[in-house]
Amino acid sequence: MTLQGKRILICISGGIAAYKINLLIRDLIKKGAEVQVLMTPSAENFVSKLTLSTLSKNPVFLDFYSENGTWNNHVEFALWADLILFAPCTANTLAKMVHGICDNLVIATYMSAKCPVFIAPAMDLDMYQHPSTKQNLELAEDFGHFIIPAESGELASGLFGQGRMAEPDTISEKIEEFFHSNSNKSLMGKTVLITAGPTYEAIDPVRFIGNHSSGKMGFSIAEEAAKRGAKVILISGPSSQKTADPNIEIHRISSAREMFDEVFKHYQNADIAIASAAVADYAPKEVAKEKIKKSEDSLTIELVKNPDILKTMGERKSKQFLVGFALETQNEEENAKGKLEKKNLDMIVLNSLRDEGAGFKIDTNKIKIFTKTRLKEFQLKSKNEVAKDILNFIEAQILK
Ligand code: CTP
Repeated sequence: MTLQGKRILICISGGIAAYKINLLIRDLIKKGAEVQVLMTPSAENFVSKLTLSTLSKNPVFLDFYSENGTWNNHVEFALWADLILFAPCTANTLAKMVHGICDNLVIATYMSAKCPVFIAPAMDLDMYQHPSTKQNLELAEDFGHFIIPAESGELASGLFGQGRMAEPDTISEKIEEFFHSNSNKSLMGKTVLITAGPTYEAIDPVRFIGNHSSGKMGFSIAEEAAKRGAKVILISGPSSQKTADPNIEIHRISSAREMFDEVFKHYQNADIAIASAAVADYAPKEVAKEKIKKSEDSLTIELVKNPDILKTMGERKSKQFLVGFALETQNEEENAKGKLEKKNLDMIVLNSLRDEGAGFKIDTNKIKIFTKTRLKEFQLKSKNEVAKDILNFIEAQILK
């Protein structure tokens, strides 16, 4: 009974996949969940209220008022739920959700909710590919909602492509996974400081020295730490990565100097500090006030050393468990161990640019972790999975 006592509010909108929700409800009830169903008016064309209420063991509502004149309080539904699932979620309902078009019970309930929201879209393939749907799904993600992507296959229109609602088993597994990982609040009460992304060192008002770091690794660690209950302070250089997790306090900076200043506003309160940023080692000595014009055949820019943020964290270490990263192209292990020692770290994560699938701008990474006494090598994995490995390793060290 993996979902024992969990209250799941299912909002059905008008798509053919609505009939599959019967199977989903049966499965969730078997796993111990309490289920309440709300529908949009058009959903009733696709699935019977009677079947849904029999399976969910609760009356099903689709309007603000019932026939006997009672008011169906959307706020109560919203506050009752531990999780709201929109399945199937049509293009129309999705658009109303993200733009606040509150013209039915389902959207009013959604807008009153404080709990996590899962969305399983279902529509024809062209609708799914349409820029408005794509943008609306991105907005939903920015709100912190969880999207269960549509699957590919034959669609009700007879066309083949992506648009089918994820199977009930998949939806049920995602919900289980969510509650499971959320019950594992292993970093509750801990403050985790993370640096991420590149730094940009200005040359003049339009140019800078930077690097290819995307910030993905640092953002993945931040999200995983937040999932585990930590208060996360994420200090990121210029990066297109986003997060809407309410447990992540994000500070966006540009240069190494700014990152240094921001880090040391928070460092003393941190229990764990993880430096995943690719900080520029040098910055131009002078930043030209105006755009540098093309003149001579060669141009020399004098660079001066930036402060080493991680090394300073090592020097000022009190209670912090301090983790560094090393990105190497040669003598990888030796260099990583050298940094562990020199920067007074508790642990260092090594990625080698020689490993295929590791490094900048990609979704995977292959790491080795060193402490003063241990070495552990990991397989090539997605950066989200690597984030879990890193935090599992840290937790094992802290709890030793
Ligand atoms: N780092 C930092 N501040 C810097 C440079 C690096 O905080 N000015 C941190 C990085 O976030 C990373 C670790 O130090 O966690 C190692 O960075 P790396 O660039 O590999 O090492 P460096 O010490 O700069 O040495 P080198 O460039 O000579 O390899």
